[in-house]
Amino acid sequence: DLGRQDFGPPPATLPDLAQGLASCRHCAIGCNGTRAVAGEGQPAGGFMIVGEQPGDTEESLGRPFVGPAGEVLRGHLQAVGIDPGQGWLTNAVKHFKHQPTPKRRLHQSPTAGEIDTCRWWLDRERELVAPRLILALGASAARGLIGRTASVQRERGLLATHEGTEIWLTCHPSYLLRLDGAARAAEEARFVQDLASFADRVR
Ligand code: URA
Repeated sequence: DLGRQDFGPPPATLPDLAQGLASCRHCAIGCNGTRAVAGEGQPAGGFMIVGEQPGDTEESLGRPFVGPAGEVLRGHLQAVGIDPGQGWLTNAVKHFKHQPTPKRRLHQSPTAGEIDTCRWWLDRERELVAPRLILALGASAARGLIGRTASVQRERGLLATHEGTEIWLTCHPSYLLRLDGAARAAEEARFVQDLASFADRVR
């Protein structure tokens, strides 16, 4: 794609990729002094789940999806019969973009340009993990995977098939955490439905 950088020789293994991420300074987020959070899991499981970027908890612990949104995701995955530990969990952007405030580090969305820069890593990760199925959580994840911003409301479900890999789209679990009452219940039900459709393909 136009404007996408080449970061040099591709990492040969997933641990090499994790090491490369740790020292990546190709965008402003990578230069903010936080630690990179690499993907983790079981490449042989055949599926990959992609979020936006690590959050506060993920950056502190150095692992993806271990904060509040991760808890929602993992709980619903288990409920539809997917063991999250049996697949590969990762993010479109590998460092935590945030606004420091006296009380806490406030999440900031990555720009399209930052997502596109980090795509070099996500592409290498896809090559190494070689999943048969990918689930994109939200518009940023979709952009990292297909190179354009997708609309969750209009395009949820099977989003694209690329070289034999199906890419599915649903909302990001942190979106659910920002809703309450009936809206939360309705959106959470749609999320679970999407996960169940994805789970049918995993089996
Ligand atoms: N949100 C994400 O997108 N990824 C994480 O790892 C955690 C929260």
